[in-house]
Amino acid sequence: MNLSQKARSISPSPTLAVDAKAKQLKSEGHDVIGFGAGEPDFDTPDFIKSAAIDAINQGFTKYTPVGGIPELKKAIVDTLKEDIGVAYEPNQIIVSNGAKQCIFNALYCLCDPGDEVLIPSPYWVSYPEIVKLCGGTPVFVPTLESQDFKLKAENIKPLITKKTKVLIINSPNNPTGSVYSREDLEEIAKLALEYDIFVISDEIYDKLVYDGETHVSIASLNSEICNKTLVVNGVSKAYAMTGWRIGYAAGPKELIKAMTDLQGHATSNANSIAQKATLEALTNPARKQAVEEMAQEFSKRRQYMVERINKIKGLSCRMPKGAFYVMMNISETFGKYIGDKVIKDSTTFAEALLEKYKVAVVPGIAFGADEYVRLSYATSMENIQRGLDRIEQFVNELS
Ligand SMILES: Cc1ncc(COP(=O)(O)O)c(C=O)c1O
Repeated sequence: MNLSQKARSISPSPTLAVDAKAKQLKSEGHDVIGFGAGEPDFDTPDFIKSAAIDAINQGFTKYTPVGGIPELKKAIVDTLKEDIGVAYEPNQIIVSNGAKQCIFNALYCLCDPGDEVLIPSPYWVSYPEIVKLCGGTPVFVPTLESQDFKLKAENIKPLITKKTKVLIINSPNNPTGSVYSREDLEEIAKLALEYDIFVISDEIYDKLVYDGETHVSIASLNSEICNKTLVVNGVSKAYAMTGWRIGYAAGPKELIKAMTDLQGHATSNANSIAQKATLEALTNPARKQAVEEMAQEFSKRRQYMVERINKIKGLSCRMPKGAFYVMMNISETFGKYIGDKVIKDSTTFAEALLEKYKVAVVPGIAFGADEYVRLSYATSMENIQRGLDRIEQFVNELS
């Protein structure tokens, strides 16, 4: 096949590769414990499902306006006002097929060939790939575990060039679980304004924060940075609605218009029924309790997972403050053997753990962090306990 240069530049998703291997082992009858999940293990709340069933029964099954139905845009405006304290107009909102499409639309509309996009590393696997597809060049800004994996102005500054166009921030963060404070964001906003860099703020995990942390959006700091920020969010993670494919973005109206025009030719509107379900997710009074219950359960699992990991000699991790992932530092296992196989990086660690103990984790190299593997706690407490027992045995067996 004579594939395009663009198509050949896409790397296959490493997270999906682990998942595929784990599924294959499962189908062969192995008892596999998966820590790879990037989605809540809870079911979508019933009140949301009912709204979708009503939408079908009422024949709400046709094309809608490309950027979303007006009542959903209004609900998003109200949600953003309540959640992050920013007042948007409906023409500053777009509804897309997941937060992922919002990010794609935005980068496509912002990047000319060669424009550089700053991405904090460790990063969500899709950012660099989307940047490349949109003709931009990903530039990774290192963050340190000792600084809670948070972006610091001093680390961004040396990487800014004349071609720097966009900075992506993601708080709460996948994969690190970091949650940026107002002060952290003020430092970044100051720099973005000074160097005229547009900010894409991916806030998809905003409802999943723990230990009394609050989610702050960079757009809420002041009107200057708000005018240079696209806030991205959606219902996938907060309402256990990953399969419904609804995300939304809020930002400058010229950008939103361009994103909507692009979407009009790419996919048209997001699913009409899922839009109605999302309207319910954002407006039904039951939503807060539903989110709260999921967040409490995640927090309990997180506590257990972190305590267990830090008791295993050779492994360590920080207490994540948001999302549902733990970055486990495995660097002390490097150079050790399991049978005749040496652990030399995150891939060999993850492969050996899956082969020998049937536990699936995502190698940190997928996120640009080879000294770590990512564990998701979006799985039952029982799985977490059994999985960590096996990880402990695995590490104890290394010599
Ligand atoms: C950081 C981050 N942003 C965006 C997304 C995509 O969300 P959606 O399902 O709304 O496309 C994910 C999903 O894993 C994510 O982890």
